[in-house]
Amino acid sequence: MNDFQGHNRSPGNSGPGAHASGSDSHASGSDSHASGSHGAGLTRRAFLRGTGMSAAATALTGPLPAALAEIDDDDSKKLPAPAAGMGPAPVKLELTVNGAKMTTNIEPRVTLLDALRNYLDVTGCKRVCDRGTCGACTVMINGKPVYSCTTLALEARGKDIKTAEALNADGKLDQVPAAFAKFDAQQCGFCTPGFVVAMRAAFDQNPKASPADIEKALGGNICRCGTYEQMRHAIASLCGNIHGGAKGRATKEA
Ligand code: FES
Ligand code: FES
Repeated sequence: MNDFQGHNRSPGNSGPGAHASGSDSHASGSDSHASGSHGAGLTRRAFLRGTGMSAAATALTGPLPAALAEIDDDDSKKLPAPAAGMGPAPVKLELTVNGAKMTTNIEPRVTLLDALRNYLDVTGCKRVCDRGTCGACTVMINGKPVYSCTTLALEARGKDIKTAEALNADGKLDQVPAAFAKFDAQQCGFCTPGFVVAMRAAFDQNPKASPADIEKALGGNICRCGTYEQMRHAIASLCGNIHGGAKGRATKEA
């Protein structure tokens, strides 16, 4: 078994983790404990300001929680101004998923993954780690791959969301999942929706991508069954042979 890019999460990584604007707040949740007030320059308080407060102020577009708003030192003046409040009770949410307008009522704290799977019955995105480390929940937002488990549903309002279902539109299988099937690049299949979405996003961004480019773009996805070698065959067959996909119309066959 040999993964892509060693699960590289560096800031320069073009994998899903690098794009999920809301991911760090969740993914780093345990890090706040690891750092505590004695970590490498990151205090618990600084962590809260850097992630929790900005997420509350920008993602939820609501007022700062009272407990945090009480922080009255100089740094608090740098925080974004509070916006109109929403929640904590369910609020009406409209999302555009695979080209369709979908409406539900959810609490503002609900992640995009939960909104899609539990409220809108769009189940292509899978919950595996639920903490921004495996990529099984990857969806595209405005063409960029993101971890839906660490993105708030409210963050996706007014944006174009695409899930793995978009790669089989109108019964036409997109080239990417078709190549996965052709080269048997899956075993249990739980990681596959995330991989094909991330791979399609990478090809949409660069139709002339090399196999190395695609492997780099998949650095945020993990296959626990270890089907990387078969995926490499699929990637090799696609490079230089890719057509427009989730951005435009799904195409017929790899
Ligand atoms: S990264 Fe979202 S379920 Fe693993
Ligand atoms: S096929 Fe099982 S985790 Fe990838």
